[in-house]
Amino acid sequence: MNDLKTCIEENKHLINKHLDEYLEIRYPDIIWESMRYTVLLDGKRLRPLLVLETVKACGGKIENAIPTACAIEMLHAQSLIHDDLPCMDNDDLRRGKLTNHKVFGEAIATLAGDALLSFAPQVIIQKTPTAVKNEIILKILEEFLITAGALSLIGGQVVDIQSENKKIDKETLNYIHSHKTGDLIRFSTRAGAIFAEAPENIVKVFDEFGRLIGYAFQIADDILDIISSADELGKTTGKDEKSQKSTYPKLYGLENSITEVKNLCKQAKNVLINNNIATPVLIQLTENIMIKSEKDKK
Ligand code: IPE
Ligand code: IPE
Ligand code: MG
Ligand code: MG
Ligand code: MG
Repeated sequence: MNDLKTCIEENKHLINKHLDEYLEIRYPDIIWESMRYTVLLDGKRLRPLLVLETVKACGGKIENAIPTACAIEMLHAQSLIHDDLPCMDNDDLRRGKLTNHKVFGEAIATLAGDALLSFAPQVIIQKTPTAVKNEIILKILEEFLITAGALSLIGGQVVDIQSENKKIDKETLNYIHSHKTGDLIRFSTRAGAIFAEAPENIVKVFDEFGRLIGYAFQIADDILDIISSADELGKTTGKDEKSQKSTYPKLYGLENSITEVKNLCKQAKNVLINNNIATPVLIQLTENIMIKSEKDKK
């Protein structure tokens, strides 16, 4: 696990340094403080790590993709701020600290989410090195905006909220998982391959890899909500049951959910291995999603 640990730490440092720089405080201070608060708290930075590791796996230059990796983390933080609002999941704890609205109030937290959503694409446009072709930036922007919106992340969040206290079918659960969480992870690996100017067949490989681990990641998140603790996760656990969320464990049970995460991660690893594009870090990251969901089963 040493490779992965070192790589996660180096990546966190690099991404945090850039996030800190991009999000310098301007007038009115309070909105930038609120945006910075959730973004700079200690998250795993999984999505930026996937972007940069995919760039490396495809032989590209990571500096070309750093602004987009940061923009993806900003979009992710925006989704967390809004997800925690009282009108959504109503959570008090995020990344080991009070949620944004608990610190800044609901109005500023809502606006901070909106502000991050519109600031992130500006970062892609203004900070991507000029050496990167405009057609690549345009493609990335299009995919970023699709992923952030009603066709993807917001669509998934809508169906998640509407599925509380309901019995939903397999297709609806698939929609929730792949849209609210899976698509941003899929976009992270796609973006890495696109920045590295990988051929279309390799972009497709990373699309499939991202799709599989993205789906597994939300199932693992649902499992951890049951078997882990707030201390360990930095967010309230047992919330899905309390809010009568329609989750994978709810529909299929805990054991089947753990098996499904394992299957998806195995498939994801094989996609990379069969296409000769596996790197030790990407393989270990995939295994980590699996281990996480198995962790304190008892
Ligand atoms: C939490 O994502 C929300 C989901 C999409 C499941 P992460 O587990 O990646 O949260 P951070 O970034 O580490 O806080
Ligand atoms: C949220 O799923 C996915 C997002 C788009 C934020 P959850 O509601 O399960 O995420 P957590 O458990 O609050 O992090
Ligand atoms: Mg939610
Ligand atoms: Mg939530
Ligand atoms: Mg959850």
